[in-house]
Amino acid sequence: MPSKVTIIGCGAVGEAIANALVISDEITDLVLSDVVKDKLRGMVLDFQHGQAFHATRVVEAVDWADTANSDVVIITAGVRQREGESRRDLMGRNKSIMEHIVPPMAQHSPNAIVIVVANPCDFMTQLVHKMSGFAEGRVFGSGTFLDSSRLRLELSKKIGVAPESINAYVLGEHGDASVVAVHTATVGCTLLTELVSKEAISESHKAVIGAAGEVIKLRGYTATAIGMAVGKIVEAIVRDKLEIIPLSCPAKGRCGIEHDIYMSLPCIVDRNGVRPWHTVLPPEECKHLQQTAAIMHEASKEVLG
Ligand code: LAC
Repeated sequence: MPSKVTIIGCGAVGEAIANALVISDEITDLVLSDVVKDKLRGMVLDFQHGQAFHATRVVEAVDWADTANSDVVIITAGVRQREGESRRDLMGRNKSIMEHIVPPMAQHSPNAIVIVVANPCDFMTQLVHKMSGFAEGRVFGSGTFLDSSRLRLELSKKIGVAPESINAYVLGEHGDASVVAVHTATVGCTLLTELVSKEAISESHKAVIGAAGEVIKLRGYTATAIGMAVGKIVEAIVRDKLEIIPLSCPAKGRCGIEHDIYMSLPCIVDRNGVRPWHTVLPPEECKHLQQTAAIMHEASKEVLG
């Protein structure tokens, strides 16, 4: 199936996503777009020099017409967290960047599926959805897919099995107000709660919340793992996989949430985008998600009015 993907914003995160896509060899065309034109040209040439090793045609977007009729658009553009900043601190600055990007993107690729990676991811996803006018399932955020991978890594160190064998989700905000779905998590066919204490799980959750900050302190930014996560999302779309992934989507009406906000909940991903996956959590976890929703709703007033 031919598939054209555009990445808007080719800093470290955009490049990491491009790498993941090229290596997976799942798409036919990759368009890279950025405002820093010389650097973009250099990046595209660098990718093209590897063309003998993969089948994806990589080109630069000289103008919006080059992005036309993309099947998938990935938005990473925006400022990134500096040491000590939270993702929510980026809200106002990244809102104005979205205002420049979304109208021409929507005009040139009216049927695209849009994956929002820019932070604060949940708020930017809701904003992009509102500005694009696209159907709900066609705009979603990478959300806590990466946080869930980080959680599985932390738990794997404690339990001594591969992260892949741990079925555990971080839900809610991609940020400080995330929630671990503790009681439904399994390792093999054993409940996670049978294997590790509540304290150990909450220690792992703390490590997840601090993970990006730790990397930023050491190297200035995060990029590699989010690149892999977005690569997997694109693969689920292009291969029409029906994979269940926690992604940032409209939360109202799910798990007793009454606020009109976006946050990560389990979604089914296929070639049409995402749909909510039927999710039943114990009352205390629903309550945590509702509290997160209330915090996020308050914070969203700055960008969404
Ligand atoms: C991180 C960025 C993607 O968590 O927010 O690494």
